[in-house]
Amino acid sequence: MKQGRLASTVEIDPWGSSQYQDYGRLRAQFGIEAFGTDDWQIFDEPHALLRRGVVFGHRDFQRVRDAIKDRDPWAVMTGLMPSGLMHLGHKMVIEQCIAHQKAGADLHIAVADFEAVAARGLSLEKARDLALDQYIRNYLALGLDPATAEVYFQTKRHRVKDLADRFATRVNLSQMQALYGFTGDTSIAHINAPLVQAADILHVQQPDLGGPRPVLVPVGVDQDPHLRLARDIAQQWRRFNIVQQHGEWTLTVKGEDKSRWLDVADAVLDHLGMGTRTDRKRNEKHGQIALGKQLRGRDVRALDRALAQAESKKGEMGFIRPSATFHRFMTGLTGDKMSSSRPESSVFLTDDPAEAQKKVMRSVTGGKETAEQQREEGGEPDKCPVYELYLYHVAQDDNHLDEVRTECLDGTRLCGGCKKEAAGLLFEFLKEHQERRDQTEHLVAEIVKDD
Ligand code: TRP
Ligand code: SF4
Repeated sequence: MKQGRLASTVEIDPWGSSQYQDYGRLRAQFGIEAFGTDDWQIFDEPHALLRRGVVFGHRDFQRVRDAIKDRDPWAVMTGLMPSGLMHLGHKMVIEQCIAHQKAGADLHIAVADFEAVAARGLSLEKARDLALDQYIRNYLALGLDPATAEVYFQTKRHRVKDLADRFATRVNLSQMQALYGFTGDTSIAHINAPLVQAADILHVQQPDLGGPRPVLVPVGVDQDPHLRLARDIAQQWRRFNIVQQHGEWTLTVKGEDKSRWLDVADAVLDHLGMGTRTDRKRNEKHGQIALGKQLRGRDVRALDRALAQAESKKGEMGFIRPSATFHRFMTGLTGDKMSSSRPESSVFLTDDPAEAQKKVMRSVTGGKETAEQQREEGGEPDKCPVYELYLYHVAQDDNHLDEVRTECLDGTRLCGGCKKEAAGLLFEFLKEHQERRDQTEHLVAEIVKDD
């Protein structure tokens, strides 16, 4: 399927198997932001994937940063499509979620069983079994805390399906084709799947699930079209919008009863201390309030958040546009994308540790033809799946990672020994992980909600 065309040469396909090489270019083409120096540093203990740039970009992460700074609530939302065994590439998102959970976010996990049926043709039963035994059990073993997390199934949560139906009333086929490259033979269920995902992402802002608040969705970059859709839908259903016109910030109201909504906005602005009613020019007819030229990004976000909360209190959707972070993909041990359908390329979390060790020993590397050449010229860690194993998974501290990298580059490290070290660390991780899988199995029932 052809995807994410947007006048670009790189295509993003959530259901495809492309490998992405140039993440800087992806950012530029799709408007994904690079992290600034004071973005993820807001965390007391930033996760290795953030520190090491594996998470290479974001959308609207500033909203999360504001919430952490102001000690306001924020949430993390993720989903999994249970189409096969869980491998190391799938482990990154949940590790990041667990770290955010520890930093105070509540966590919501969707089992995308609808998507697995619609896009992959699995049966619901198979999807359920895979989700519970593979993903959820592994998540718990990795440290997911049931106290502040919930897991639900898309097909069982009626409010998610209802919301997807509402969203569908304002999205047309051309938009879905432009975003996903759907063609005439795409099933209607498949076309619907991104709307269900938008509903997954947005419904956690419903009043009884915590109300409008920043929601971070950590994903692989292949999911970006879904995030763009969810963000557009969130704004589309808002009454208020804050826009900059000719250098002037303006609050606009959409839909019926503009006057009543302008009163709501005025009350919010008063409460936030943003000017007086006489400085703010209010235009009844167009449903606008002029806010002046001097608004900082942080003030705009704070206002947007307060307005969303006011909308929600009055029974509107009031969803704040969700934020996202994007991580790089793992290269498979065979040199192509790590994929559940190619066991040799992947290390599964339930692989026999000794088998996994052998897979690593057979991996392609960024090394040279001969040991002599490598001693002279050094290896290429940035083209090496074994280096990725260290970077993404087995190097616990950053000094160790630096050491592997430096030694590889200067030729003092050879691939045989390097693989052996990585394979040994992986063996230990898998052994302990699988013990934890048994110890935490009883928590599965506790974390899965029936609706
Ligand atoms: N489409 C995602 C995948 O293929 C699964 C998913 C469903 C999801 N709902 C979500 C991811 C909400 C993030 C947020 O893995
Ligand atoms: Fe990869 Fe290690 Fe060989 Fe360097 S020494 S190319 S990191 S296997």
